Amino acid sequence: MDILEIRERYGKDIEAFRAAAHRCPELGTEERETTALIRQRMGALGLEELALGLATGAAFRLRGTGAGKTVVLRADIDGLPVTEPAENPDCSAHPGRMHACGHDVHMAALYGAALLLLGRGGAPGDVVFLFQPAEETTDGAESVIATGLFERVQAGCAFGLHNMPSMPIGTVGVREGALMAAKDSFSITIHGRGGHGAAPEQCVDPIVAAAAVISAIQTIVSRNVAPLDTAVISVCSIHGGHADNRIEDAVTLTGSCRTFRRETRALVMERLGQIAAGCAAAYGCTAEVAFSDETPPVVNAASLLGAATRAAEATGRVVRPDMVMISEDFSAYCERVPAFFFFLGSAADENAAPLHSAQYRAHPDTALYGAALLAGAALEAARDGGES
Ligand code: NI
Repeated sequence: MDILEIRERYGKDIEAFRAAAHRCPELGTEERETTALIRQRMGALGLEELALGLATGAAFRLRGTGAGKTVVLRADIDGLPVTEPAENPDCSAHPGRMHACGHDVHMAALYGAALLLLGRGGAPGDVVFLFQPAEETTDGAESVIATGLFERVQAGCAFGLHNMPSMPIGTVGVREGALMAAKDSFSITIHGRGGHGAAPEQCVDPIVAAAAVISAIQTIVSRNVAPLDTAVISVCSIHGGHADNRIEDAVTLTGSCRTFRRETRALVMERLGQIAAGCAAAYGCTAEVAFSDETPPVVNAASLLGAATRAAEATGRVVRPDMVMISEDFSAYCERVPAFFFFLGSAADENAAPLHSAQYRAHPDTALYGAALLAGAALEAARDGGES
C-alpha cells in the first residue's frame, strides 16, 4: 500500500492519535496518561493486550494467520524535559514537557502499523505491538525484557525505528551491522584537602587536578583508540566548590563514553581509570572512578537485512545511513533476538531542527511512512522464516 492510499484510508486516524499523544508528553516511567491513551486506541481495534506488569507501557498481540514467526514491533513513548513553544499546534498540555524526540510520531506509526495489518487480515505470524516506556533514560527496554514478554510470546525477531530530522521525509535508512553506539556513563570524584583560598600550600587542590584529568582524558581517543576505530568520551558536568575564597575538598566529574566494539569499550574504561588515578596522584589527590548505565550498541541482524530492505523499498527511498554515536535501548532487544532498527526521514525542509530541540517538529507524513515500514517489516520477516 503506498503512502497516498495509507493517507486516504488511515491518515486522519493516525494523525489524531499522534496529536493526542503529542499533547501529553511524560517523562520515562511516568507515562500514565500516554499509556491510558494507547490502551484506549489499541483496545478499540480489538487487539489482545498482553499484561506487562509495569507501571507504564503496554503490549498488544495480533494473532497470525499461519505458522510464521512472531514479530515484535516496538515504539518508545516517553517525552523530554523541554518547554514547547506555546504557538505550536497540539502544543504540550504539560508544562516543561515536550515530545521533542518524536516518540509521539513513533507511537502513531506503531498504531498505524496495527491498522494496516488489521486491514489486510493480519500477518503470517503473530505480531506484538510493544509500546515501551523510558527510552530516554535507556532502561525501559531492559525493564520490558525483565517481564519475560519475549519468552511468553516466543519472539522470533524485533523491529523498531527512530525518526531523523537530518534525513528528508520519504527516505528510510537501512544499515546492516552496527548502527548506534554503546554508552557507558562515568563519574570521577577527585579527593584533595580543602582550606583557605589564600593558602594553597596548606591544601591539596582537587580543582587543579580535575582540570588536568579532563585534559588528559582527551588523549584516550586521540592516542589510545586506533585511528580507524571510533569512540567518544565527553565530560559533561563538573561539580566542586561554592565560595570564592575556599579550596574545596573534592570535585566530581560526570560524563559518558560511546563505543562500538567490545575491545574498544574495555580499553576506554581501563584508560579512564588509569588516567584519573595517575593524574590525580601527580597533583597529590586520589580519584574514585565508577561506571553505570551500560547500554550495548544497536547491531542490526544480518538475517533480517533482506526483510528490512524489502520493507524499506516498499515504503520510500532507501539510503544507507552513517553509524551514529547516539545510543538507543533498542539494543537490549538486539541482544535477545535478531533485531533491526531503521532510521526514518522526518525533515520537512533543509532547516529542520534537530531531535531534542524545542523547535523540533516532524514532517506530518512521518507517522504514515513509519506505519508502512513497520507493517511491511512484520510481513516480510514473518514470510522469511516459518520457524522462529
Ligand atoms: Ni528518541
